[in-house]
Amino acid sequence: MIGIFDSGVGGMTVARAVELLLPRFPLLYLGDIARSPYGTKSDRTIVEYSIENTKFLIERGAQVIVIACNSASSVATDRLRQEFSIPIIEVITPAVEQALRQTRSCRIGVIGTKATIRSNIYERKILAERPECRVVSTPCPLLVPLVEEGWTNKRETKMILRRYLHSLKESQVDTLVLGCTHYPLLKHLIQPRIGKRVTLIDSSLAAAEYLRQYLQDNPDFTPSTQHEPGKNRYFVTDLTESTRSMAEKIFARPIDLQPVE
Ligand code: DGL
Repeated sequence: MIGIFDSGVGGMTVARAVELLLPRFPLLYLGDIARSPYGTKSDRTIVEYSIENTKFLIERGAQVIVIACNSASSVATDRLRQEFSIPIIEVITPAVEQALRQTRSCRIGVIGTKATIRSNIYERKILAERPECRVVSTPCPLLVPLVEEGWTNKRETKMILRRYLHSLKESQVDTLVLGCTHYPLLKHLIQPRIGKRVTLIDSSLAAAEYLRQYLQDNPDFTPSTQHEPGKNRYFVTDLTESTRSMAEKIFARPIDLQPVE
């Protein structure tokens, strides 16, 4: 069973991609909405929450954990790998690998939460592979609340995006990593503002691809032949109408969200 967690419903972009790529694998999802956002919190708090989330999923049968949250992947992965013996997959490495495959000029932009950008993890991983690359990173803290408010087509969101993307555009990046669960929901606004020649790296798709490869290389994780994606379980630590509508927007179908403590 695959266990996926995120600070909220944004990580369902990863769960959705996993459902599409690996429909025969049962999946458990935990969205820690009650304690979200993670991206504005200290590393210590993010690590503590990530440990609790992982324990919750393992207790319910998860055999592999996907940290769908970029902020948690940035600061908690090493600690989770020390604490737990099952495989822990994060979303940074798959996005970095994809960005390095795509870039031609080796000028790569990264946008993410304050925690993700502060960790400098994308730059460290990119430069470890290709020291000649130039990485330009910008924290975009207002984008998460805008997406959660459903402001994915408002004039204000477009203005804020233009401002955030300005330095990346000036630096002439040819590849831009969407280093946050919520940003794939703004792709349609980001692409025209950063320029159509810039390749956007959706970390949720990259992570799902990476997981597929991992499971293929590790046949111990045998999929259930009877499993249907409709039976996957989605837990949330708080449930509001906006959570429900965002989940349905991501999956394009009604999702049974189960509230847990
Ligand atoms: N899931 C977080 C991330 O991908 C975004 C929301 C939050 O800050 O909790 O970084």
